[in-house]
Amino acid sequence: MSDVHVKFDLASTSDDQVFLPPAPLLAGAHVSGLPSYQEIYSKSINDPDAFWRSVAAELHFERVSNKGLEYNFDMRKGDIFCRFMDGSTTNIAYNCLERNIQKGLGDKVAYLWEGNEPSDSYRVTYQELRDKVANFSAVLRAHGVKRGDVVALYLPMVIELAVAMLACARIGAMHSVVFAGFSAESLATRIVDANCKVLVTADGFFRGSKTINLKKIADKAVTLSSTDGVEVTSVILLEHLKRVTVPQGAVLPKKEPLTDKDFLYETEMQKHADKESPVEWMQAEDPLFLLYTSGSTGKPKGIQHTTAGYMVYAYMTMKCSFDAKPDDVYWCTADCGWITGHSYLLYGPLMNGLTGVWFEGVPLHPSPSRIWNIVDNYKVNKLYTSPTAVRALSALGDKWVKETSRSSLQLIGTVGEPINPAAWLWLHKVAGEKNCAIVDTYWQTETGGHMITPLPGATPTKPGSATFPFFGVNPVLLDAEGRQIEGPGEGNLCFDRAWPGMLRGVYGDKERFVKTYFAPFKGYYCTGDGARRDEDGYLWITGRVDDLMNVSGHLLSTAEIESALVAHANVAEAAVVAAPHDIKGSFPYAFVTLNVGEKLDAKLIGELKQLVRDKIGALAVPDVIQEAPGLPKTRSGKVTRRILRKIAEGCDTGLGDVTTLVDESIISELVNGRNRLG
Ligand code: PRX
Repeated sequence: MSDVHVKFDLASTSDDQVFLPPAPLLAGAHVSGLPSYQEIYSKSINDPDAFWRSVAAELHFERVSNKGLEYNFDMRKGDIFCRFMDGSTTNIAYNCLERNIQKGLGDKVAYLWEGNEPSDSYRVTYQELRDKVANFSAVLRAHGVKRGDVVALYLPMVIELAVAMLACARIGAMHSVVFAGFSAESLATRIVDANCKVLVTADGFFRGSKTINLKKIADKAVTLSSTDGVEVTSVILLEHLKRVTVPQGAVLPKKEPLTDKDFLYETEMQKHADKESPVEWMQAEDPLFLLYTSGSTGKPKGIQHTTAGYMVYAYMTMKCSFDAKPDDVYWCTADCGWITGHSYLLYGPLMNGLTGVWFEGVPLHPSPSRIWNIVDNYKVNKLYTSPTAVRALSALGDKWVKETSRSSLQLIGTVGEPINPAAWLWLHKVAGEKNCAIVDTYWQTETGGHMITPLPGATPTKPGSATFPFFGVNPVLLDAEGRQIEGPGEGNLCFDRAWPGMLRGVYGDKERFVKTYFAPFKGYYCTGDGARRDEDGYLWITGRVDDLMNVSGHLLSTAEIESALVAHANVAEAAVVAAPHDIKGSFPYAFVTLNVGEKLDAKLIGELKQLVRDKIGALAVPDVIQEAPGLPKTRSGKVTRRILRKIAEGCDTGLGDVTTLVDESIISELVNGRNRLG
């Protein structure tokens, strides 16, 4: 049972595109060679408690209980739950900071910050970071934040975001980071859902040459929240703009007036600089943070992670998937508004005592060499990024890469969406000069950390495959009836047992938690993704099997975009599907049925796009909006998205079974309409 899915034997593979771990990484790796991975994997599956408790022993626990991993995944047997080391106490911020300082890392650089403009940079040591965190935790306490409260963080990629997240964790408050590209309405929905009384934000920032007036959006969100019954009492405002270089062609945004809720970050820090603000020792299962992710019914879900399990899992996956070593200069390009930023920019690297790069800007600004320039300037040896960024960079040609050295690079990881073999090979051959391990990590907001991933010193890789499960994880492929597919085949990707880092709930909605993840296949956690297992046991993620779409590595809900579109007075109905895109992976393609007498002209398209931007954010705006005289529906009134998807993909024929439709003629009208768009 234990190693049934991990039986790769190099000598017998029929695949000629197999890449062995680079020699420098193989030697001295935490997990060195495939047999070593297989042995540890077997142990982790056969005795998970012993395995995970030995990992936990590498971190600081104030009190250690005798409990391991307890769970039930089968709703027929009772409540769904998961607990890890129940009864123990610890604190993740303490493990990131004080623990490392006690080990002598106080003067080590924790983060090298680089701003949107290359000329803006500074560094912060472990000791300095600890002091800022303790200071800001006193500020939060002074504003009434207590253990168990939720604090909303709506900030650009500044070090103060790391400080605020760690300060929440220090005092046992949950942070809810909202990506600074989300709209006022999205922020308000998240503030209201978790009843946040304190919001930490900034005046604004530059993203490439774009100016973002963050305070204006935050002010609007505070007003909207109040209308919805949640009164934010303190807004802690970071004045970021005055310390950064204005990009060429950009202008500073208009200064928004301060309201009676606003408190300036620096003033508050000074006011509470000498206050004692001790670490709260948290119960293992106390909530650590909320992070909202798209749901197929429209409303975003507040994914809830807890203290000990998330901590141990983020620590261990960081250590093994990236073979974390004391001399690493590690750079994760993700924004902290996403789980990748939480686990592999903040918590994972700090717990492993690494020096990280914290980047505010975008990969193509001021030139497409930016990423590689940062790699060279800081001698980054491990880089974690997204397939979308890789495709965007490779599409611009090799020149931008070739003019940089990249000699420090040893490992390039990717996350967020399937990486196509061409992009994988470009990373390997061009960016990595055939010297780097390419690590395609599959996981989700809900899983807290990597679930299927190569280990750089152990796993022979195949371009496009996330390879094998992480320790303690047992992936299964299920057919539509819930039967396990053994050996090669394709099916619904599920996990048959708990792992420490898994979500513990959807905030305030137990039913949705059970229904989304445990109802589709009884006894399993259901990822919502499809996967294929090949002859060698390698896993290949094939993409979402539900109504979520993955745009540039960000999950979007078709239902949420549709409800934004139908909020327009002229729209009767809308259906949104994912269409393939060379760089973004996929993009939202919207079909809208208008009220009688209305016409889809440029003005209305503009209004509809603006509505989506206002209600969700720029990343959800459909690239294409097509007028649909009607939508293809079954007799029971269900919109047949698989047909719309085919039309959006550009197919004229081979649209699948259309005989169940009420009105088949609608198909040709939609195909003709698409062709008229050009
Ligand atoms: O569809 C899978 C895709 O991203 C989804 C999770 O999105 P999110 O919760 O926003 O977290 C993204 C960062 C972990 C998954 O259900 N996905 C993520 N990584 C991969 C992937 N698809 C294929 N290959 C991956 N490596």
